[in-house]
Amino acid sequence: MKQSSSTFIGSYTNYSSVPSDLPAFAWIGRSNVGKSSLLNMLVNRKNLARSSSTPGKTDLINYYLINKSCYFVDLPGYGWSRCSRKKRNLMDKMISNFIKKSRNLKLVFLLLDSRIPLQPVDLKYIQLLVNYKIPYRTILTKMDKQNQSTITKIKKRLYQEATTDWQKIVFLTSSTKKLGKEVTWDCINSFL
Ligand code: GTP
Ligand code: MG
Repeated sequence: MKQSSSTFIGSYTNYSSVPSDLPAFAWIGRSNVGKSSLLNMLVNRKNLARSSSTPGKTDLINYYLINKSCYFVDLPGYGWSRCSRKKRNLMDKMISNFIKKSRNLKLVFLLLDSRIPLQPVDLKYIQLLVNYKIPYRTILTKMDKQNQSTITKIKKRLYQEATTDWQKIVFLTSSTKKLGKEVTWDCINSFL
């Protein structure tokens, strides 16, 4: 599918009210990892999903209709240490319930910042995806600011955690340099 149209559909607080008529693709990762920016890069839009240098910009489940054939879902970030414990727990619940229970979720992209080693909270979400048998692919973001030794460490750790070959695959992306667009779209298309 070549992307040609993208429309904001709505923001939701709970998985139970999201649209379920088309397949959905979701992006998860720590706050500020670049989820909203990557979504914008994929659909050639600057501000379809709102991004910000301040972590916690996205705090609802946002649905975008792509080409009238699937939804892209921009989720809040997890693991933001500087927000209140109450808000963090709320976000955690929102994201994990969405992953566990939303009916038309085809694939999750798990985003990791290429400059930051894998954190316990990332491993927690990988475990959740594995336990609930949700297909996912791993994406390293901000490759324009890459740190080669950290990337090697991340890949090594993902290898250790992987129980299947596809879990060892890592897509390298940069939203500012528009890197990794083709490979991400190819992956999405393979699930449609
Ligand atoms: P939350 O909604 O808070 O969870 O954040 P997010 O994961 O959606 O991150 P967002 O896309 O808002 O980006 C966070 C910051 O990182 C912004 O200042 C972006 O401009 C910056 N950013 C995102 N992607 C890239 C990238 O590929 N390269 C660089 N250099 N900066 C990026
Ligand atoms: Mg965001």
